[in-house]
Amino acid sequence: MGGTSGVGLATAKFAEAEAIGAATAQLDAGDPAAVRNFIKEHREFDHLVLSVSGSSGAGHFRDLELDELRKGFEGKFWPQIACAQAALPTLKSGGSITFVGAISARALKPGTAGLAAINAALEAMIPILASELRPTRVNAVVPGVVDTPWWSRVPDAARAELFEKLASEVAVGRIGKPEDLASAIMFVTTNTFVTGAILDCDGGWKLKNA
Ligand SMILES: NC(=O)c1ccc[n+]([C@@H]2O[C@H](COP(=O)([O-])OP(=O)(O)OC[C@H]3O[C@@H](n4cnc5c(N)ncnc54)[C@H](OP(=O)(O)O)[C@@H]3O)[C@@H](O)[C@H]2O)c1
Repeated sequence: MGGTSGVGLATAKFAEAEAIGAATAQLDAGDPAAVRNFIKEHREFDHLVLSVSGSSGAGHFRDLELDELRKGFEGKFWPQIACAQAALPTLKSGGSITFVGAISARALKPGTAGLAAINAALEAMIPILASELRPTRVNAVVPGVVDTPWWSRVPDAARAELFEKLASEVAVGRIGKPEDLASAIMFVTTNTFVTGAILDCDGGWKLKNA
């Protein structure tokens, strides 16, 4: 879910290249009835990857419009949870669900309290779902800053400057590519010994400067 762009698109391409394949359809992941219909139509499947996200919820708390934060939950938390629940009846035994979180959940950056709340809420559920839904494996892959259309609202020149600054703050010295995340998602999806994992794929956001 969320395969038209960025991380989700790179993951779908990776899955195609690995001959796993990806189901394609156009639907609103925030509409539970549409999600249930889509899943019913596709009958059994092996893996669900949830890369859906809106872009609301960022900003300093003093100025944060609470409706924007609500929109942030509506755009990411609720669609991911609704899709995961709707998928359960037709997900094959031994299959997997992979949520895509965000390092804002734990990066402690001013201006990201709302994003932290949305993504920490998802993260909190992972180990419990992995335990409850066994043998279905449940994991999360957690991006840092990745160059995807998610950032398209920032004008080109400002975005280039911002990426350069952010790249200098992470251990690997660069911004992520969608393929970095796709490879991490494929790892937790296909490795049948990984469940309950929250895999940071963030270039080292939380590491202290040397
Ligand atoms: N990029 C980053 O720096 C970054 C950092 C941390 C975490 N993340 C997380 O990584 C994940 C992927 O983000 P991205 O950077 O790849 O963003 P993106 O390029 O904006 O892709 C988001 C995808 O979600 C889809 N989508 C959004 N709302 C939907 C809905 N209601 N129903 C169906 N599809 C919907 C979009 O489809 P349409 O465009 O067709 O609506 C698009 O395919 C998200 O969970 C995001 O929070 C990204």
